Parts: sequence; C-alpha cells; structure tokens
Amino acid sequence: MKINGNVVFNKNIGDGLFRMKIDAGKSINTKPGQFINILVSESYTPLLRKPISVYDAYDRFVEIVYKVAGDGTRLLSQKKQGENIDLIGPLGNSYLDFQSQIPDNRCRIILIGGGTGAASVHFLAGCLKNYGIPFTFIQGARCKTQMVAPAEFKKLGCLFTTDDGTLGKKGYVSGLLKEKLTDNTVIYTCGPKPMLRAIRDVAKTKKNVKVFASFEEYMGCGIGACLSCVIETNEGVNKRVCKDGTVFDLDEVAF
Ligand SMILES: Cc1cc2nc3c(=O)[nH]c(=O)nc-3n(C[C@H](O)[C@H](O)[C@H](O)COP(=O)(O)OP(=O)(O)OC[C@H]3O[C@@H](n4cnc5c(N)ncnc54)[C@H](O)[C@@H]3O)c2cc1C
Ligand code: FES
Repeated sequence: MKINGNVVFNKNIGDGLFRMKIDAGKSINTKPGQFINILVSESYTPLLRKPISVYDAYDRFVEIVYKVAGDGTRLLSQKKQGENIDLIGPLGNSYLDFQSQIPDNRCRIILIGGGTGAASVHFLAGCLKNYGIPFTFIQGARCKTQMVAPAEFKKLGCLFTTDDGTLGKKGYVSGLLKEKLTDNTVIYTCGPKPMLRAIRDVAKTKKNVKVFASFEEYMGCGIGACLSCVIETNEGVNKRVCKDGTVFDLDEVAF
C-alpha cells in the first residue's frame, strides 16, 4: 500500500538516533516485524526507498526509530513536523506468522534486539504485553547513547547490555542470553548477523529452543522484484528477505 503521510514529529533521541511519528491518514494494519519503505527525497539521489522497521503502530500512526547511516537516513533526519512523507507498507512477514511452528505453547519467550534491530522487537514486546503474555526482553547496544529508547524499553521490563558497560550488563546480548536461557524457549530477535550467529550458538546449548530472526539485508525494491536482498537457506534455495521474510526460522538460514 502506498501512503502519503505527514510527519508528526522527528526528534533526535541519541547519538545519531532519531524517532519519527508519521500520521498515515488511516490505520495501515501493521504486524510486529514488518517494515515500511520510505522515499526520502523527491530527487534522484538517493534513488532507492529506505526500509525501516515499524517501532510502533496504533490508530492511524506509525513510529520508527532509525540511525543516520548515510545520505538517505540523513535526509530522513532533516524532515520537519508537517512535512509530507511517501511510504510503501507494511511490507514483509511478521514474528506472529510463526506461531504454528512453536513446539509447545507453554514455551518461554525471549525477545532480543541488537542495535537498531531493537525497533523491530519493541513492537512485538508491546503486543505481547497487551495480550498479557510474559516474556524476557534484552536490548544490546555498543554504549548507552546508542541504546534505543531505554526508558520505554525499561517499562516493558527490558534488560540491557552494552559493549562498554555504560548501561546494563557489560558485554554482548548473547552473554546475558546464556544466563537466562532454559530448555523450551522461543526467541524472537533482530540485529546484526554476528549477533544472530551468537544467539544461534547459545540456543544450541539447550533443548527445544526455536529462534525466529528478522534479517536486515541491503534492499533495492523492497517488494520482491530485484533479488538484491536474497539469503540462502540450508537447502540451497534463495529467499528474498523483503518478500519471503524478513523473519525466518534461524534453523533454515545458511549464514
Ligand atoms: C527490513 C529492514 C529494516 C530496517 N530497519 C531499520 C530500523 O528500524 N532502523 C534503522 O536505523 N535502520 C534500519 N534498517 C537499515 C536501514 O535501512 C539502512 O541503514 C538505510 O537504508 C541506510 O541508508 P542510507 O542512504 O542512509 O545509507 P547508505 O549510504 O545506503 O548506507 C550507509 C552504510 O550503511 C550500510 N547499510 C545500508 N543498508 C544496510 C543494511 N540493510 N544492513 C547493513 N548495512 C547497511 C551501507 O553498506 C553503508 O556502509 C533496516 C533495513 C532493512 C532491510
Ligand atoms: S529488495 Fe528487491 S527483491 Fe528484495
């Protein structure tokens, strides 16, 4: 769905981190794990839309949290209140689409967000809380100023890790996961690939642990047409992250 929205606010919330609230004019019926593809400029540079996960969605509003990484996100950070914003979405599948693959509905749930991947799992955490489903929540960042909205995450019971120890436990999310993980657990996660690999390794140390991870591959079209976002499965089949994912069963992905 193509949407012509308006910027409600676009504020700096950390070191290069921004949070934007968009009035989409109507509910866009988004599920946790999905993303929107934003046209950041009317000109030809940058040509491609920028994929950003939905941080929260309610009524006719969508919120995103993003880090300035290059020209596209820098232009996004300069958008002012009331400015028009052109987006396509919601795109991709949802963490919730994997419910039928959960071995036992008494499984514990752990959510893990690393870097700006925390935005994607934040939406899921809010949904689980609304449904009264208990979960353990971990967010990891390089340092305190890179942590996504720590006050809001804290309200959701989130635990923190930082590489330099400036907030929460010093070290990686995988270290804290090692302490918290028990048999019979489902992990939902989004973050950089080295973090996903570390989570996969920790998950293997317990019985009956499933990991569903949202991948943030570099994207071209965002709608399944250009194949720039493919990842390989263990069966040797290529899958498009934008269309077949972004969420995959980690056991299926070769990376
Ligand atoms: C499904 C999806 C959801 C995303 N959600 C978020 C989000 O919620 N918040 C957020 O801050 N970012 C998110 N990203 C990453 C974001 O899309 C990129 O940072 C952005 O497109 C960079 O564009 P740019 O023009 O600013 O920088 P570019 O000039 O395009 O890139 C700047 C640098 O970032 C690298 N880069 C660009 N895209 C990616 C990527 N996908 N993965 C790793 N490195 C990349 C480039 O290689 C380059 O080194 C998401 C990406 C995907 C695919
Ligand atoms: S980004 Fe074009 S197919 Fe996924």
